[in-house]
Amino acid sequence: MTTQQYDYIVIGSGIAGLYSALLAVEFGSVLILTKGGIADCNTQYAQGGIAAAVGPEDSPNYHFADTLAAGAGLCNEEAARILAEQGPQAISELVRLGVIFDTADGEVALGREAAHRMPRVLHAGGDATGARIELTLSSLAHHSRIHVQEYTTTSRLLVEGGRVVGVAGLVNGEGDEVEYLATHTILATGGAGRLYRYTTNPEVTTGDGVALAYQAGAAVMDMEFYQFHPTALRLPGAPPFLITEAMRGEGAVLRNAHGEAFMTGYHPQGDLAPRDVVSRSLLTEMRRTGAGNVVLDATHMPSERLAARFPSIYNFCLTHGLDITRDPIPVSPAAHYMMGGVLTNTDGETTLPGLYACGEVACTGLHGANRLASNSLLETVVFGQRVVRRSLEGGWSGPWPEGVFPLEAEPSEEAGAPSIEGLQALNWSNVGIIRSREGLEEAAGVFAAWEASAPEGGDRGDRELANMVTLGRLMAESALVRQESRGAHFRTDFPETSEAWLRHTVFMKQAD
Ligand code: FAD
Ligand code: SIN
Repeated sequence: MTTQQYDYIVIGSGIAGLYSALLAVEFGSVLILTKGGIADCNTQYAQGGIAAAVGPEDSPNYHFADTLAAGAGLCNEEAARILAEQGPQAISELVRLGVIFDTADGEVALGREAAHRMPRVLHAGGDATGARIELTLSSLAHHSRIHVQEYTTTSRLLVEGGRVVGVAGLVNGEGDEVEYLATHTILATGGAGRLYRYTTNPEVTTGDGVALAYQAGAAVMDMEFYQFHPTALRLPGAPPFLITEAMRGEGAVLRNAHGEAFMTGYHPQGDLAPRDVVSRSLLTEMRRTGAGNVVLDATHMPSERLAARFPSIYNFCLTHGLDITRDPIPVSPAAHYMMGGVLTNTDGETTLPGLYACGEVACTGLHGANRLASNSLLETVVFGQRVVRRSLEGGWSGPWPEGVFPLEAEPSEEAGAPSIEGLQALNWSNVGIIRSREGLEEAAGVFAAWEASAPEGGDRGDRELANMVTLGRLMAESALVRQESRGAHFRTDFPETSEAWLRHTVFMKQAD
């Protein structure tokens, strides 16, 4: 076991990891560990864009209010205020680093997405915003004091005397663990879409960061809130692929199997209703009509404009035999974004000194019960900057949860052996868009049994499965604890929102 020492270790090479690393390198040496190639991350696939109150009619107050409304009462208002107010500055930062946002008539072009009161979403390359950001930041990471180590899976956080002092990793995802030490460790491992059978996320999204932090003793929060995007492509033979909400913002319409535009019957904002509402409405329509999908119809839009505004979607669909200028796009909901995560304060400090979290893996409570579209890319820049600034100040003032819940499920005797496919199917059916006590209890029992029987160690695949089991259990038990419906969390046995549940769910290993 060799050991290397750095000022900062950043785990993950999406926007949160790369941006934090580029700031941190001004103050010390940086190691970026990433388990795939540098661009294997959610960031690479972001389409719609990045929200910020930069338009002439807009204001941070409006952005703040829309964030709170989408979050269904549970947003951390301090975090939402910081995000909205520092949003325009964060955009300037990305421009300074070389990101070129699209313009129209000499002004920055702003797209419209669900639950935003006005067009507010900057985009790049039409629907290639994430890819453009990832390319720009990763090219800057070729720096003499940043060492980017690809194909290295972080397998453990190293804790000494209650402080995180580094990480252990598997080079090429296998073999003996190598230790890397650092003064500051920044978790930027992204989300966990791969826990579900249907997802918009790429393969690396197995929730490792939350599992690693939880196993090391950090608090995790709001794991019941998982966002399902209503419009993932459902085309036989095509891999997971998102059809951006911005397309509805430009006038595309959801239709059921009878060709009827149905969303205005469900919500006054129609096709641009909050994501959780649209996803549940789609499921209802699919069940009502007996169809496996609905369609997104953009055929009434001028063909040239459609292809120019959404080139990635246009080309992807065309290579799979679908011309979106002529044919409606088959879509259905898929797991998309993890609102919960490792509990942090608004400086990215976790409950473990030495460990920061930033990006989709972190949970300041900013998104509450449901994230406002295109707030996540912005979050990484605004809070990444705060993480690095805080690391320079010394001391530790991390958050402390007001109360924690115990994990209670008894291991099921009928769980069988764990497998990724089994886990994805179970999570999709029992911890998905529509939940019930019965289904959640069954899932929690199976996860508890799988956790009890999981072998220690192993290669990247073994570690990912173990991490997914840990997350599955946390999600199922959080969802069981929350006896109400709010935002992305909907329970048939508690269909109403309850004042009594205006609180967060926190789990912490030592507390068990
Ligand atoms: P990621 O970009 O996912 O990066 C995580 C990194 O951690 C990866 O490099 C991964 O390999 C690495 N990693 C994970 N585990 C380990 C481990 N054990 N060891 C080492 N490395 C590890 N948000 C918006 O705001 N606007 C959008 O338009 C938008 N569109 C989206 C479209 C799609 C299809 C998807 C999937 C998401 C979209 N989102 C959008 C959400 C947004 O892209 C993500 O929330 C954001 O990119 C997360 O950035 P991140 O850096 O936190 O994580
Ligand atoms: C989309 O483009 O529809 C996704 C935007 C987001 O997830 O924020």
